Amino acid sequence: MRIVRAKDYEDMSRKAGDIIAAQVITKPDCVLGLATGSTPIGAYKRLVEGYEAGDLDFSQVKTYNLDEYRGLPGDHDQSYRYFMNTNLFDHVNIDKANTHVPDGLAEDYEAACAAYDEAVAAAGNQDLQLLGIGNNGHIGFNEPGDAFVRGTHCVDLTESTIQANSRLFDSIDDVPRQAFTMGIGTIMAARTILVMANGEVKAQAVHDMIYGPITPACQASILQLHPNVVLVADEAALSLC
Ligand code: PGA
Repeated sequence: MRIVRAKDYEDMSRKAGDIIAAQVITKPDCVLGLATGSTPIGAYKRLVEGYEAGDLDFSQVKTYNLDEYRGLPGDHDQSYRYFMNTNLFDHVNIDKANTHVPDGLAEDYEAACAAYDEAVAAAGNQDLQLLGIGNNGHIGFNEPGDAFVRGTHCVDLTESTIQANSRLFDSIDDVPRQAFTMGIGTIMAARTILVMANGEVKAQAVHDMIYGPITPACQASILQLHPNVVLVADEAALSLC
């Protein structure tokens, strides 16, 4: 794992945004695995600026997002589809038909999850997979547990994740209790993985990801087995490393 030290959130966002931009420039028809949450918002702004400056062309880019809350339609303002539209897709020249987020309303969700994995594979897998990391070490919504799950699947969110994400909802009761997430196998199929982390609240998870045992109790620890991971993190997130 290569560690890129950033001073603060802004610095992390510029550096990570520029790594994604380099991917789009070097392979205009690349497949990006994308993430939601507070962490990547600044990197997405950087990409929008790159597009507005005429440096980036998303017309051939395909994207697959990590996860979506179960039960939220794409036009719900807390859905991850809505997040992606408002933070990135609406502001660049990407073809929305080339953007994919798991369907939070899928009824036959096992079939929908299998189809999602097949679509990622059929696209040639992710050239670059962007990841945030949860306070509890989750990647996507792969929560701490007894196993690493290979494919896209439905998860029960842990109390710590519900608590952490409640800041974005009117009340904690509004936070969905389940989500669909790419599995660890789907994530690990990416040729390059770019992890972003900022803030002291992530310091333990970042430490365990890099130096801890490889264990499903810290799902991010599996990244030690991937040959091409770049971590861009600020000083606070690296404070235990
Ligand atoms: P955050 O979430 O970017 O909102 O901190 C990261 C994650 O839970 O993966």
